[in-house]
Amino acid sequence: MPNSFLIVANWKMNGSRSLAAELLAALKLKHHTWPKLKLIICPPNLYLASAHNTLHGTNLSVGAQDLWFGSAPATGNTSADMLKDIGAEFVIIGHSERRQLNLESDLVITSKLNAAIEHELVPILCVGESIEQRRSGNTLAVIRQQLQGAISLIRARPQAKIIIAYEPIWCVGTGSRASSIDIKIVHAFIKNLFMQYNTSVQVLYGGSVNANNVADIAAIEFVDGVIVGGASICKTSILCLCDRAELGISSKGVLQVC
Ligand code: 13P
Repeated sequence: MPNSFLIVANWKMNGSRSLAAELLAALKLKHHTWPKLKLIICPPNLYLASAHNTLHGTNLSVGAQDLWFGSAPATGNTSADMLKDIGAEFVIIGHSERRQLNLESDLVITSKLNAAIEHELVPILCVGESIEQRRSGNTLAVIRQQLQGAISLIRARPQAKIIIAYEPIWCVGTGSRASSIDIKIVHAFIKNLFMQYNTSVQVLYGGSVNANNVADIAAIEFVDGVIVGGASICKTSILCLCDRAELGISSKGVLQVC
């Protein structure tokens, strides 16, 4: 059972040098008030090195939002080696926005997972169904399919660490989150799938997480953390979100739903 609740701040393609400096300074100042949280800040690559320098010496980590695999010429891409070199410890892989905008297939995503694991970056693999898939009752089948690559990698390397982020596509950036019972069912399903291979994974929820709902989400069984988009790029929201998550964890078991 992991003892820290993970908060992954996925800034996506947002920010500027000054906003990054402001957010990082605020998190650095306050993080000691959140002993139960583990924060992973994932800025755009341009700001990764300065984020790492600013956060050096704290228990806040930095992660990238993607990587490229292989050693062939790949103009515009960033390798796992480079991310390691500037201090990244984590990397988000297979985000639904990349699956949609960059047409990333499960095969490409598996190659990225493999590159991350080989270079000792912890991958945060995003999975989640579209609204049509949910309405047709295919949520768990879609998630099982999206996890196939990760499962075969874990079978080949049982020591590899991988984090799964359940992000229903219809909740990303929409202001609506999945219900507590739906989150619990999907997280339990993911954990059980990996348990069949003697691997325990941390499972995060993502999709319209904010300061108002994070305590409820944190209290749901099988939720090991959250991945936050919009609310992570505003200083007031992310500080308040962390304050409330810390409280939500403290009451886990009391507030537990379902
Ligand atoms: P929002 O929190 O803006 O819905 O984004 C979620 C997300 O995509 C995190 O990776």
